[in-house]
Amino acid sequence: MRRSGTRHLLSMADLDRDDIEQILNLTESFAEVGERSIPKVPALRGKTIAWVFYEDSTRTRLSFETAAKRLSADTMNFSVSSSSVNKGESLRDTIETITAMGIDGVVVRHRAAGAPHQVAQWTDASVINAGDGWHQHPTQALLDLYSATRHLGELDGKHVAIVGDINHSRVARSNAIGFAAMGAQVTLVGPPTLLPPSLAGWPVEATHDLDSVIDDLDICYLLRMQLERQGQATVPTLREYHQEFGLTSARADRLGSDALIMHPGPMNRGVEIAGEVADRPNAIITEQVANGVSVRMAVLFLLLGAGLEPVDHNLAVA
Ligand code: CP
Repeated sequence: MRRSGTRHLLSMADLDRDDIEQILNLTESFAEVGERSIPKVPALRGKTIAWVFYEDSTRTRLSFETAAKRLSADTMNFSVSSSSVNKGESLRDTIETITAMGIDGVVVRHRAAGAPHQVAQWTDASVINAGDGWHQHPTQALLDLYSATRHLGELDGKHVAIVGDINHSRVARSNAIGFAAMGAQVTLVGPPTLLPPSLAGWPVEATHDLDSVIDDLDICYLLRMQLERQGQATVPTLREYHQEFGLTSARADRLGSDALIMHPGPMNRGVEIAGEVADRPNAIITEQVANGVSVRMAVLFLLLGAGLEPVDHNLAVA
């Protein structure tokens, strides 16, 4: 980000607490734009942003598109399934082709960890990582931090459990860094088969026993079982997984009255979270989705717009 002197958003590891606070403060301004009768500002008029998604997405892609439209940016849609990727065109040639048409930003999702870092070598545009393999999903972490702070205030000392398929989760990696940067205590919870072989460098503790931490949590953050990334069975059955590591109704009853239930989506009700628990008032899962638009407006504005400090929000309706 601009405070860190970079044009890209590739990893939460590139952001310090000041960077994150700058983004969250700007998000608050853009959330206000979203409540207007005409939720649109001219902040990125004349800028063009391309979406390059090699993996499926509902939330991330639609919220980036909504964010760009609210900022008056032009967008260039790229669909792998109807593109020349199917004729064998490489990622590099695809990026250089899109860049040649004139773009200011490119939002990339790819199954390969590090793909957005490579893309940043092949284009002059700002690159935003919308999820790369198991590696990083920085805007998910930012929208989760924003959502959590709206309910809990400062996150210093708050206890966050990230529960489930940690090993295959880019969300876990980004959120562990993000919550720790904001002063929270992060505990990873999962069976040995779903935790990384080494937690060296992770700012976290870990346990295999959700019941040992559930009463103490400020946030219980559930992860989807990512069967598409698992080469072999990691749990005996999904039913047993739900009993051992799912947020069942009984476990949700043990959470404190102010504790939040969070999930990045898409959810598998009845696996990592009981169906009725996902609909409880302290489950803020759809609120996370809504906040994703405002957070992505802030990120796009800081990277592509007049995000020089002091920030000129340029929020006047056109
Ligand atoms: N949370 C998230 O990244 O969802 P999508 O895969 O639908 O974008």
